[in-house]
Amino acid sequence: MGKFTYISDLKKHIGEEVEIRGWIYNKRSSGKVRFVIVRDGSGFLQCVMVKGQIDDKYFDLFDELTLETSAIVRGKVREDERAPGGVELDLNYIEIVGKSENFPIPKVREDNIPDPGVLLPLRHLWLRTRRQWAIMRIRHTIEKAIHDYFDNLGFIRIDSPILTPAACEGTTTLFETDYFGEKAYLSQSGQLYQEAACMAHGKTYCFGPTFRAEKSKTRRHLMEFWMVEPEIAYAELPDVMENAEGLIVYIVERVLETRQEELKILERDISKLERIKKPFPRITYTEAIELLQKKGFNIKWGDDFGGDEETAISEEFDKPVIVHRYPAKIKAFYMKRDPENPELALAMDILAPEGYGEIVGGSQREDDLQTLIQRIKEFNLPQEAFEWYLDLRRYGSVSHSGYGLGLERTVAWICGLRHVRETIPFPRMLEKIYP
Ligand code: 4AD
Ligand code: MG
Repeated sequence: MGKFTYISDLKKHIGEEVEIRGWIYNKRSSGKVRFVIVRDGSGFLQCVMVKGQIDDKYFDLFDELTLETSAIVRGKVREDERAPGGVELDLNYIEIVGKSENFPIPKVREDNIPDPGVLLPLRHLWLRTRRQWAIMRIRHTIEKAIHDYFDNLGFIRIDSPILTPAACEGTTTLFETDYFGEKAYLSQSGQLYQEAACMAHGKTYCFGPTFRAEKSKTRRHLMEFWMVEPEIAYAELPDVMENAEGLIVYIVERVLETRQEELKILERDISKLERIKKPFPRITYTEAIELLQKKGFNIKWGDDFGGDEETAISEEFDKPVIVHRYPAKIKAFYMKRDPENPELALAMDILAPEGYGEIVGGSQREDDLQTLIQRIKEFNLPQEAFEWYLDLRRYGSVSHSGYGLGLERTVAWICGLRHVRETIPFPRMLEKIYP
């Protein structure tokens, strides 16, 4: 690999000759002047060539510079405040590296996006377009912010396994696989293993892919999604509400700090993100039900929220809203009951604003051995598979709490996307697994 420069660094090379290695993103010509937009992964650059000022053999290559042809170009960097990135390149050399004829996503530009459903089978190429490029970079920043947030607070990252012998979030959404003649499942959540880990390290988190064989075809559901799951020993429900609130504020701050260009490409209204400050409103499930009934929903105490209900609740606030103390019946087996009302689970969900729905689900965990054994029976779960989990209550049990934040829904909200399928490089959706 010889010496070349990345477009993102060009501001430091004004007036210098540089070489850029990338792909042709767009081109246009007007008389003797030809414009070629080159992208190299780090950014987009307008390159200019003028007949007579560049060798004819390069000027005449213009017709061959079709969409997504890979090319090496050289030229002099010129400052231009009007250009995106603040620079342009006056070309004096072009070399085609790999041809690209009839790129199957012609003219996918910000102003002309065909139905994204049509683009899904072309995801491997679709990733090259400017919007998708911006989304993946914001996703990267969110992931980095998540790691930094927990690291700054002294959390240890402990990876949970993906192949698991039992269900965590209910048996109806398990992907089953054969494990040397035994049944195993793709993990729905790393939580149970974090409960073991936090008893060793105090504060831990995992961040990896999780799987749900949900037969749901909504703009919020994927079969494979990434979740960050912190777990804290000696923490109670209010402690994890505060921790999650801090995480969301930190993520938004970091994106606003470092991804202005990408947010602009996505035409995101950033004033809505600038409002995301502590404290977030906190309401009980019961209050949420009353709110929905006032808004005309046909819903009664004990019902779970669907997407429409979540949207309606979140519309009332311009920040994420924390809903807590759900009926235990609609929540997972491991959640601790509210000592003041055992019908309630010490659970909390955080709903993102602008109708994005639930991005966080968490709770205080049941820490009493006998109560937990009872729950496992009530939920018809095989106790043998949970003996190790029960051991955590046999040997030095303490109150502990945690939550899971879904990465893709968070990316969708921050980027202002209609559907989660654009938030992950290769989405896994109902009956769709290509490419
Ligand atoms: O509410 P969930 O199911 O919670 C758990 O799995 C807990 N064990 C987490 C914990 O306490 N450690 O999922 C947590 C979050 C949801 O709020 C949502 O953001 C995301 O994971 N999520 C999904 N995202 C995309 N597609 C799906 N099918 C999702 N299911 C959950
Ligand atoms: Mg949930």
